Amino acid sequence: MKKNIAVIHGDGIGPEVTTQATKVLHAIAEKFNHEWQFTDCLMGAVAIDKTGNPLPDETIEVCLNSDAILFGAIGDPKYDNDPSAKVRPEQGLLKLRKALQLYANVRPVTTYPALHHLSPLKEKQLKNVDFVIYRELTGGIYFGKKELSSDKTQAIDECIYNTNEIERIAHAAFKAAMQRKKQLTLVDKANVLETSRLWRSVVQNVAQNYTDVKVSYLFVDNAAMQIILNPAQFDVILTENMFGDILSDEASVLSGSLGLLPSASFGISTALFEPIHGSYPQAAGKDIANPLGAILSAAMMLDYFGLNTEAAVVKAAVNWTLTHKFVTKDIDPINFYFTSTIGELICDFISGNNNFEDI
Ligand code: IPM
Ligand code: MN
Repeated sequence: MKKNIAVIHGDGIGPEVTTQATKVLHAIAEKFNHEWQFTDCLMGAVAIDKTGNPLPDETIEVCLNSDAILFGAIGDPKYDNDPSAKVRPEQGLLKLRKALQLYANVRPVTTYPALHHLSPLKEKQLKNVDFVIYRELTGGIYFGKKELSSDKTQAIDECIYNTNEIERIAHAAFKAAMQRKKQLTLVDKANVLETSRLWRSVVQNVAQNYTDVKVSYLFVDNAAMQIILNPAQFDVILTENMFGDILSDEASVLSGSLGLLPSASFGISTALFEPIHGSYPQAAGKDIANPLGAILSAAMMLDYFGLNTEAAVVKAAVNWTLTHKFVTKDIDPINFYFTSTIGELICDFISGNNNFEDI
């Protein structure tokens, strides 16, 4: 198979983790006879530094003409600490999501027995945890009107959803539930928000097309608690943009590290694959970031290409590193391996050249 892949390294640890993911994709290409053409593009703080624009037109162009996009991370503290900054790195990612209409963000939450000890939860709560968050990604409060009054004493962030936006992600989430345990939980705040009440009524309608799926409803405050108390109860969580952002970071603690969680964003054109973690600037350039979220995002890309065996090999390689305690500093601050070493070990596993005794 031949594919064109746009690579957006982004900011902070983004370049280090995406480099490991492309290394792993190279190893897969060698082993299974595929050909990837990678094209690097700019987005985020690095793009602002080089062009003044967090998302240059050329990046959109390359992404639209690619079969998939691999993205690292975005953000730089120099903008976080300056609330009046007009141009911000995150605008690049938000604009790209909108430009490609990447409305469905899929964030699987898996736990690894080898890492159970790292989770703040008890071992028995972590058993059978395997759910996926379907986060709406191109609407809601993220994209509503934003305003700061001229005297700077009042600000507005408008939250808007229309039925079409809710329907399309609801169908995607129900289809996923059909392939899984056939349970879907809509997370909202329908006791307070009008948009949430619209979500409920649209989801109730869409549910009639998927009568095998058991649907339940949770208010977001309760959902946040349930994810910690009894995460194994979930199969597919469907939710709006901001609730999905918050709950997916919360859910990542179940697996032991935010650095482990991958994601895929689907829309009407090119799909994008990225770890859910941020740019982690304190770790940038130190070769200590966890590359597994990025590598597992590459595995999601392989699944998207229909290369399920190849994706399974990458996931097996990741499992192998974790069970053999080849882990980065976020997982073991004393006996840790470097980002690039983990990437190499995974490539060796894939090529079948691993000489485990020597490590
Ligand atoms: C994420 C990130 C982004 C978001 C930021 C960087 C804009 O936190 O992908 O979860 O809030 O969507
Ligand atoms: Mn986030």
